[in-house]
Amino acid sequence: MKNEKMNSKIEIYICNYERPGEDSCFAKGSKELTDDLKKWAKEETQKGIKVVRGGCLGKCSEGIAIACYPQKEFILEVKKEDSVEIKKGLKEALENL
Ligand code: FES
Repeated sequence: MKNEKMNSKIEIYICNYERPGEDSCFAKGSKELTDDLKKWAKEETQKGIKVVRGGCLGKCSEGIAIACYPQKEFILEVKKEDSVEIKKGLKEALENL
């Protein structure tokens, strides 16, 4: 076993759970949102923010759901078009850590 420090200061987990025939974050566009935020984080935050394609966060009726650490907060009812606002908020949070 071995411990290693992580580079990222903020990690967000975006629900990409797909439930065929039923409501899910995936059906609401979480894959496209995740792809966009992953690309942005890699290019713009020098690994300060890590974006993770996650599973169900138990907030299905309020999806797209995102869990943020170390803030320990959910961002809920996210739409794909909220991407710009999310990036702005994450960048501010990173600068204030
Ligand atoms: S399907 Fe996204 S939180 Fe459950």
